[in-house]
Amino acid sequence: MADALVLIRLAAFLCGAVLFGAPLLARIGGVNPPGLRQLLRLTAFGAALAALATLPVQTGQMAGDPVAGLNPAILTKVVLGTLFGASVAVRLAATLGALGLAVWRPDPASASTSLMFLGATNLASLAFAGHGAANPGVLGALHTLADMVHLLAAGAWIGGLALLLLLLFGARATPEAETARQGLVRFAGIGSAAVAALIASGVVNLVFLAGISNLGRLGDGDWGRLLLTKLALFALMLMLAASNRLVLTPRLTSRLNRGLAEAPPLTALRWSVAVESLLGLGVLAIVASLGLHPPPAAGP
Ligand code: HEM
Repeated sequence: MADALVLIRLAAFLCGAVLFGAPLLARIGGVNPPGLRQLLRLTAFGAALAALATLPVQTGQMAGDPVAGLNPAILTKVVLGTLFGASVAVRLAATLGALGLAVWRPDPASASTSLMFLGATNLASLAFAGHGAANPGVLGALHTLADMVHLLAAGAWIGGLALLLLLLFGARATPEAETARQGLVRFAGIGSAAVAALIASGVVNLVFLAGISNLGRLGDGDWGRLLLTKLALFALMLMLAASNRLVLTPRLTSRLNRGLAEAPPLTALRWSVAVESLLGLGVLAIVASLGLHPPPAAGP
């Protein structure tokens, strides 16, 4: 059952990240690549399915009995009586709303603000399905808020990468290469803000879940080792993001400024963004499992 929950959490994080981050970059970057509508339909559907599956599987996990997760009376009590249950209902409403927009609106870019809002609501609500809602009281609320910021920053980065992949792999001619450059330049701004928010909210998460006294012993336990592996992937992603921003995008800009008829080569950028995205997927896979491992300590 734990393996099923890890897969469901991974689907929820990945689809949730794209459903928020892709419309965010489409809105701020003023770009609308072919394939965006299909991507939003797919991820809205995936996020709705993940929300639906979370309720019985996580209820069974919490009760220590998978059958309890199939009992309508227990599920009703969970939805009406717990923050976790209410958060699943909010996720379902937000993702079905986004799915409706992605299916019925011919041009999703025109609905990007509503999609961003629904995507953010879904993603932030995931904080109630993990350790983010583990602490009571005012401090607990601060932890949950920090976890919501963490999830939204993760979504802005990973979801933005998904849109960049559409822009870069869809570019065949110079005008499309110019649109990809525009998306890259605007993403750089989002990316910096996301990294700063991830580090700040990540440290808050770390202090709440590991405790300051345990920070030096993170490598002693499964939770700590998973987190250290995640931070190593994060460092690699930062290096690729820096080379995209400081080397590859300026190189593309100077080639486009030469006004050559032929589209400038995008191979290096395509590979770099693709590898950065795979590392991001690796980070999400780790946190899908991390949330089910007991952290070293509860509270600062
Ligand atoms: C690419 C960068 C990153 C991404 C995509 C990312 C994503 C996530 C996600 C989706 C969660 C799960 C939240 C939940 O279950 O409610 C999470 C949890 C966490 N993240 Fe990050 N994060 C990133 C960077 C960082 C950094 C830089 C730090 C530390 C400074 C950090 C520390 C944590 C901690 C401590 C948790 C809580 C784990 C738990 O619930 O047991 N993360 N992260």
